[in-house]
Amino acid sequence: MRLWVAAFLVFGGWLGASRVQAGSPTYHREVERILQKHCQDCHRPAQIAPFPLLTYSHARKRAADLARVARTHAMPPWPPSAEEGGPFRGARVVSEEEIATLEAWAKANAPKGDPHDAPAARTWDSEWTLGTPDVILKMPEPYSISSEGDDEFRAFVIPSDLSEGKWISAIDFRPGNPRVVHHVIVAFDTKKLARILDKADPKPGYKVFGGFGIVPAGTLGGWSPGKRAMLAPEGTGYYLPPDSDILLQVHYHKSGKAETDSSSLGLYFAKTPIDKELRNKTVTPPVEGILEIPSLLIPAGKKNQEITGSLQIDEDVHMVGVTPHMHWLGKNFLLQATRPDGTIVPLIRIDRWDFNWQGSYEFETPVALPKGTRVEMVAHFDNSVFNPYNPRKPPLDVRWGERTYDEMCIAFLTITYDDEHRENSVPGRFRTAKAK
Ligand code: HEC
Repeated sequence: MRLWVAAFLVFGGWLGASRVQAGSPTYHREVERILQKHCQDCHRPAQIAPFPLLTYSHARKRAADLARVARTHAMPPWPPSAEEGGPFRGARVVSEEEIATLEAWAKANAPKGDPHDAPAARTWDSEWTLGTPDVILKMPEPYSISSEGDDEFRAFVIPSDLSEGKWISAIDFRPGNPRVVHHVIVAFDTKKLARILDKADPKPGYKVFGGFGIVPAGTLGGWSPGKRAMLAPEGTGYYLPPDSDILLQVHYHKSGKAETDSSSLGLYFAKTPIDKELRNKTVTPPVEGILEIPSLLIPAGKKNQEITGSLQIDEDVHMVGVTPHMHWLGKNFLLQATRPDGTIVPLIRIDRWDFNWQGSYEFETPVALPKGTRVEMVAHFDNSVFNPYNPRKPPLDVRWGERTYDEMCIAFLTITYDDEHRENSVPGRFRTAKAK
């Protein structure tokens, strides 16, 4: 019986490949284009994804999986909801039409179609997308990654060695070893605190868990495979104070072989005058105690603990980007703004939080948040045995902290002040220098 089914499937597959049903999509006519556009950045040899999707035979044997992951939005990895919040620059979103095409193709038994319909094969140049960066900072020593085991989160400290402050309009990242570099978040440290953690850890860099182990002076954005470098909105930039240390937080995924990585970060200085500095604000649950630790308790066994936080906006600002952060118990995350006139603006919604794909998201158009706006965060956490990612078995009460089994609930906001202009400020310290 089994053999018969197998024979039928093989034969059916062959039939499907040779005689295309009228109207059904084919690999060469429709599907290949979708995979090129949305999947091949990662699904090609020596990249982070576990298998390639470059040829008909790669795609055919997984036709049903391709349709399923596209339908459930599990792939391409892009946690923000397409329904609410955003829209974000460089969003990795497969359209409803493309999903329907993948489904129809799988249902029609993955027909190959006519190779004459095929698009030209994609090529990847290894050049920096925005041209050679003004400064290229390389990890000081290569880091060795073992063949097997849990993913690693590691921070590396790279002295910028810039004796004067610089306006940064873009960063770009070059993974030294794309087989293991899953994603990266970039920040800077002006107090040289990260160096202390680096020294205390015998290996290059130091062990972290989705954060930096210290509170960085600011963030510069993130990178995941296929992300193209983008310039900050016109007239805005990040200010990198003199002598800052750049912090790279790298998520490594094991490849099954021992590997080493030596990645580089490119900095692009602003080429046109900067009018507004990109700044950071955070939304957390209410803080308590003299140490001002955000208060958070997720009781053991709770399947859907709600945690909230809010931030009152006390001046007219524009929100340029957002980076949500939770650990393994996070389930979903919503950030929205209530403007003084009562209108509610959804900023970002993540229906299925995935710790493995944390991102920094930049709005296509910065969002106006007038003075008096309240930015509200609502997140849910699962601290039950039913959460397969729960690091503690059996679960224990969980509080705020940096360790794997602690939790966090933060939205890092990147904003600009509407009234900030070059003329009324000192470069690099526009607001801090101004008596307020
Ligand atoms: C940014 C990199 C990236 C992109 C883009 C990407 N993938 Fe993946 N994919 C991965 C990684 C990494 C894994 C391994 C599992 C994980 O880490 O989530 C994976 C796993 C998979 C799996 C196996 C997991 C499962 O649930 O069956 C399928 C199927 C898949 N990808 C299909 C796709 C398709 C189809 C696209 C495009 C529409 C795509 N991927 C785009 C990185 C990517």
